[in-house]
Amino acid sequence: MKILVIGSGGREHALVWKLTQSKSFPKIYCAPGNSGIAQDAELVDIKADDIKGLLDFAVKEKIDLTIVGPEAPLACGIVDKFMHKGLNIFGPTKELALLEASKAYAKETMQRFAIPAASFEVFESADKAIDFINQPRLFSAHYPIVVKADGLAAGKGVVICKNRQEARAVIEDMMVRKVFSEAGRKIVIEECLKGEEASVLVVSDGINIVSLASSQDHKRVLDRDQGPNTGGMGAYSPAPVVTPAMHKRIMDEVINPLISGLAKENKFYKGVLYAGIMVTDAGPKVLEFNVRFGDPETQAILPRLKTDLIDLCFASIEDKIGEIKLEWENKSSVCVVLASGGYPGEYKKGFEISGLDEAIKEGAPDTYIFHAGTAISPQSTPRLRSGQAVHSPQFITDGGRVLNVVSLGDNIRQAIDKVYKAVGKIKFEGMHYRKDIGHRALEHYVEDTFR
Ligand code: AMP
Ligand code: GLY
Repeated sequence: MKILVIGSGGREHALVWKLTQSKSFPKIYCAPGNSGIAQDAELVDIKADDIKGLLDFAVKEKIDLTIVGPEAPLACGIVDKFMHKGLNIFGPTKELALLEASKAYAKETMQRFAIPAASFEVFESADKAIDFINQPRLFSAHYPIVVKADGLAAGKGVVICKNRQEARAVIEDMMVRKVFSEAGRKIVIEECLKGEEASVLVVSDGINIVSLASSQDHKRVLDRDQGPNTGGMGAYSPAPVVTPAMHKRIMDEVINPLISGLAKENKFYKGVLYAGIMVTDAGPKVLEFNVRFGDPETQAILPRLKTDLIDLCFASIEDKIGEIKLEWENKSSVCVVLASGGYPGEYKKGFEISGLDEAIKEGAPDTYIFHAGTAISPQSTPRLRSGQAVHSPQFITDGGRVLNVVSLGDNIRQAIDKVYKAVGKIKFEGMHYRKDIGHRALEHYVEDTFR
């Protein structure tokens, strides 16, 4: 069996690693991948948004299954194009990828199916948006309010505005100065929700749904959720804020109404659906939908999944999700992202990374390193013994988020201790990471212990 994974980050390395565990022993390709992924898969030099290049490759190589990591190819309709050629691909069609690619589409869809989410208004003109924010009362509350570019803006298109001046400046940036180009042609202004965030990912075949383990991302760059937003500085799974009762509410009030509502309109959502949820005092409310695996949630979730990923993907493609039962390691996992100095602002690349093998040893068993922004040093000459490399090549930094270190433990506290011991072995110039990944889970854990 031949499998193609599309993308080049830590999420894709986790997907590729999980495929290496499959009982089908697939031949794995990754386009374009990264140097860490190259240890587990054959890299294909085609960019993730080169849909034609990917399609030609998949046809020529007779790829049996394609798994798409990032949202851009899904939003460009890669699934429709592959299906047209009779190729198996895991993910939603272009129309349903709008759940992520257009915030207005997502909000209007939620409204149609009475899915709980923040109150909102959609604007196509800066003047109307500015008139709106000049109202004395917005929605049911005053500031802060949230201003969102409608389209894909690489995770940067959402701004929580503390007052009217800030909101006005953000509206003008998005709609007049067009800092996100076409993504800001339309904007959504919405009520700011308060509570604790969690990520609930499910897989659907359009009718049936199976839930993956819950998780929580850490978007801010600094401890205690300070500093600017990033692509994600770490994650853990499960997220105790998603209690069994809360999980049932999320399925009953969010996921099931969405999938079944779409099905009634003859739209069958296939692939991963990721609901970013705010657990508020009034229950779960949707912050966003993503139409793909989360990054870095996937790095924390997949090491806990015992079920073969290939079976899960085919169950979605072949309308057999009703027949699959996922099995999980009854363990907690924690993923810590190691970033380049300066990230999420400007940073330098090319620093030597040391201690990767030691980190795996320190965290044994069940510690994994998934690469995001790494390259192999041009000076790297792995020692050979009987033709086999006996140690890892010399990796250097090559991106903002460099590595994901993931450990499993019997509980969250053990997983945290283990992952930070492993992280302690890894070094590169300028490296920084959050020291408090999992702190929210620990707060629940302490509460539960003393209750
Ligand atoms: P989004 O891309 O819509 O998920 O937004 C990114 C992040 O912005 C979310 O993970 C939240 O932390 C925050 N956010 C988005 N919408 C809201 C909202 N209505 N209230 C509070 N925070 C929000
Ligand atoms: N973890 C956030 C995302 O994948 O969009």
